[in-house]
Amino acid sequence: MESLTIPTWAQLVLLLCAVGFILALKGLSGPRTARAGNLVGAGAATVACALPFFYADLDNVVLILVAIAIGTAIGVVGAQRVQMTQMPQLVALFNGVGGGAAALVALLELRTFADLDELGVDLPVAYLVATGFTILVGSVSFSGSVVTFAKLQELMTSRPVVFPGLPIAFGGAFVAALVVAGLIVGQPAVWAGVVLGLLGLAVGVLLVLPVGGADVPIVISLLNAFTGLTVAAGGYVLQNTVLLVAGTLVGASGTFLTLLMAGAMGRSVPNILFGALKGGSTLGAGQASDRPVRSAGPADVAILLAYAERVIVVPGYGLAVAQAQHTLRELVDLLAERGTKVDYAIHPVAGRMPGHMNVLLAEAQVPYEQLIEMDDINAEFKQTDVVLVVGANDVVNPAARTTPSAPIYGMPILDVDQARQVVFMKRSMRPGFAGIENELLFDPRTTLLFGDAKDSMGKLLAALKAL
Ligand code: TAP
Repeated sequence: MESLTIPTWAQLVLLLCAVGFILALKGLSGPRTARAGNLVGAGAATVACALPFFYADLDNVVLILVAIAIGTAIGVVGAQRVQMTQMPQLVALFNGVGGGAAALVALLELRTFADLDELGVDLPVAYLVATGFTILVGSVSFSGSVVTFAKLQELMTSRPVVFPGLPIAFGGAFVAALVVAGLIVGQPAVWAGVVLGLLGLAVGVLLVLPVGGADVPIVISLLNAFTGLTVAAGGYVLQNTVLLVAGTLVGASGTFLTLLMAGAMGRSVPNILFGALKGGSTLGAGQASDRPVRSAGPADVAILLAYAERVIVVPGYGLAVAQAQHTLRELVDLLAERGTKVDYAIHPVAGRMPGHMNVLLAEAQVPYEQLIEMDDINAEFKQTDVVLVVGANDVVNPAARTTPSAPIYGMPILDVDQARQVVFMKRSMRPGFAGIENELLFDPRTTLLFGDAKDSMGKLLAALKAL
């Protein structure tokens, strides 16, 4: 089919692009090589997109170029303007557009198949199955991603949205979609493809509505895997190696990422997707407590740190919000100069996206050797004089160990409660994303340094310098 029109030299270039994607993924798996990996992947994608202009007899070249120019402008401006904390939304949007594009391409293919069917050509069933799959899953990915974007961008409530009859509506739309997909395999028809796409859009919305805000990044990763699979199926139908390889890579890595994130939060994927339907909301109430706590000013905390031999810093979402990473690095460097042993403890789901803390601290030139993963550092808290918790909450909340009713119960946490002293830097007594109280804030060994982390960190640094 289409492959017959791709000359051998172009097939070879596409194969090289596919190799480029594999190398890109390899590069992205380590912080030192991630930037190079990203560039290799972007380069391969650019070559693969430009290639058809050189071998194919394209119609509507001007329209295609205008579409590419608009897409590039939106992509460049969006990526430059986005804040680090808004990265999950951006990924959701780009991912949704990819799923939607795959579904539209499959619809066009279906039109060709319908024409061939009318001429009496015998079509391979596998192509029709792959086409139906791409239309359905691509539409699910598109509408699901749009809802996740709206939730994270706070264009709608980030709490689970559940209404009576939701499970029936979801189940009905899903079964109807399977029936229509079956019809397409029996006899390809464009109207059936359009109905399938609309049902897919409904399934995507109904799938994501009941997911609570804290779980949305995991669902984005899952939808990302869906998009990968649709692109791979599209690549199979179009006999296009590069789409097949790229889609499979995205599908596989998205699936792994979903499972790893769910595991790191001590949750199962079905529980994340359908937990709210069973009445177990995935997001807590988020009320601030008015119980008494011990608080101190920057000067007192500076003295505490100055006399400590071993300090561990626990960065969290609040560090990213405050953009205090540069001042934090200065503080840690100063402590190290004074002879204190300091490391950063990295929880796998600290922040709001995978690797959030690594990226944030790398941006502040923190050496990778100082970033210690949770499993490697947990044994050290017992011998630690002071733990400085900067804008983290859930990832150090002992309720994950002690309170079966807590939404984070079962999530592995950093064992900060075993240290001699703990200092929390946060603005108020409001809880973290899971919306539950943290008993550690009320522990006699805990001191709170209230204020925006950047502001407090600046004052703390000045106080330490003055000692
Ligand atoms: P959180 O538990 O969300 O706590 C963040 C803390 O930062 C809050 O206590 C908040 O308290 C404080 N904060 C916010 N802005 C601040 C500012 N400008 N200055 C100082 N403090 C500030 O964060 P965490 O411990 O990093 O845990 C991450 C949570 O997100 C977990 O529940 C995790 O499961 C969830 N999650 C993570 C991911 C990934 S992949 N990372 C994905 C989905 C969900 P105040 O408001 O009082 O300041």
